[in-house]
Amino acid sequence: MNTDLISYYHDRAKEYDKVYLNPAEQTDLQTATQLFQTLFYQKMVLEIACGTAYWTDRIAKTAAAVDAIDANKQMIEIAKGKIGADNVVFHVADMYAFVPEKRYDGLFGGFIWSHIPLQDLDQFIDTLQNWLMPDSILVFIDSNYVENTYHDKKNIAQTDEYGNTYQMRMLESGESYLVLKNFPTRDFLLQKLSRIATEIECIDLTHYWILSAKTKAARDK
Ligand SMILES: C[S@@+](CC[C@H](N)C(=O)[O-])C[C@H]1O[C@@H](n2cnc3c(N)ncnc32)[C@H](O)[C@@H]1O
Repeated sequence: MNTDLISYYHDRAKEYDKVYLNPAEQTDLQTATQLFQTLFYQKMVLEIACGTAYWTDRIAKTAAAVDAIDANKQMIEIAKGKIGADNVVFHVADMYAFVPEKRYDGLFGGFIWSHIPLQDLDQFIDTLQNWLMPDSILVFIDSNYVENTYHDKKNIAQTDEYGNTYQMRMLESGESYLVLKNFPTRDFLLQKLSRIATEIECIDLTHYWILSAKTKAARDK
C-alpha cells in the first residue's frame, strides 16, 4: 500500500478541487474566507502546502503579498493556471527543507497540519518561528471529525506507534493510498503552538477547526 503523501497529492492534483464543492461545507468555507481576509489584511504571507491555491486566491485579495509553496509541481501548475494576481508568487518547495529568502509577518497552512507526523511536529513548529517576524499572524485550518462523512472517526484505518492516524483513500483512477490524517484535540493544538506563539485562538466550525496566533520573539520561547 502506498503511504507516500507527496505521491498521493501528485496523483490527486487534477481532481483535488472537487473537495471544495460539497454544499454542506460552503458556510464554513465562507466563514473561514472572511476570517482569513481580515487576519491577513496587508500582511506579507507565506503559505505552506498551497495545493491548487483555493486559499491563496482568497487570502491574496486583502494581503499585501503571498508567497505560496507546495512540494508538488502538479499542484503549483494548476495554481498558476488559476491565479493571475500580481501579489502572488508560487514556488515548488518541500516545507521541511524550505529556506525562505526573507521573513514574513503572516503564515498560513490549509489542511496540512493533519498531514504532519506527530513525531516531527515540534521541530516543524520551531522552524516556523525562524521564517516569521515577532508578532506575525499564524493561521492553520484543518478537518474535524464529522460523522457520516469522509472524516468520520470510523474511517480511521490504522494508528501507528506515535499515535498518527491513517485513512484509506481511493482516487478516481481506482488507486488506493493509506494517508496520514491526524485529528488533534484543541488542548493539543494549544499546547503545540504555545512553543512559539501567544494569543492563540481556536475556532470550531462544523467541518473545520481554525487556529490563529501571534508569534513570540525567538528569545521568549
Ligand atoms: C490537503 S492538501 C491542501 C492544499 C491546500 N492547502 C488547500 O487547503 O486546499 C495538502 C497539500 O500539501 C502538499 N504537501 C504535502 N507534503 C508537503 C511538503 N512536505 N511540503 C510542501 N507541500 C506538501 C501536497 O502536495 C498538497 O498540495
